[in-house]
Amino acid sequence: MKRRQQIAPRGGAPTNSKKPVKICGSATPWRELLAAARAAASNAYCPYSRFAVGAALLANDGRIFAGVNVENASYGLTVCAERAALFAAVSAGARRFRALAVVAGARIPATPCGACRQVLAEFCDACMPVFCGARTGAKVKRTTLGALLPQGFRLSCRGSG
Ligand code: THU
Repeated sequence: MKRRQQIAPRGGAPTNSKKPVKICGSATPWRELLAAARAAASNAYCPYSRFAVGAALLANDGRIFAGVNVENASYGLTVCAERAALFAAVSAGARRFRALAVVAGARIPATPCGACRQVLAEFCDACMPVFCGARTGAKVKRTTLGALLPQGFRLSCRGSG
């Protein structure tokens, strides 16, 4: 039997709704975005962790930019999939984004790391939806960048000292 993809609304139980999710005033093609992230994950370069991650960012102009984690023998130089996607997008001239999807090779949906949240906040609104998928594709966690990064750093908040 084919399992339906589940999506968990913020603060609620998972639903099987087929309706597109409306956040920030526009409908988000989250299934397409998750599929792009999942397809990208197969290109992850992760010989050290064996933890493949794919990310896909939907730009305001409709373009989708994918990224994967790229590891290095000097572990700290690893770049996460979310930042790889964002940097590809910015390099192509995109500056504003409507949604992010992340798919990791884990049993439960993995959310972006703290560093990626801060980097995403440079270009994305707090209300931007973030869809996180697991290895199997059955479970999807939906959240927002603002929920993932409350009180993120802003240069305008810099003190006088
Ligand atoms: N990783 C990501 O690509 N995104 C995250 O948000 C967290 C972690 C990658 C980095 C590393 O290659 C592997 O997952 C294990 O940490």
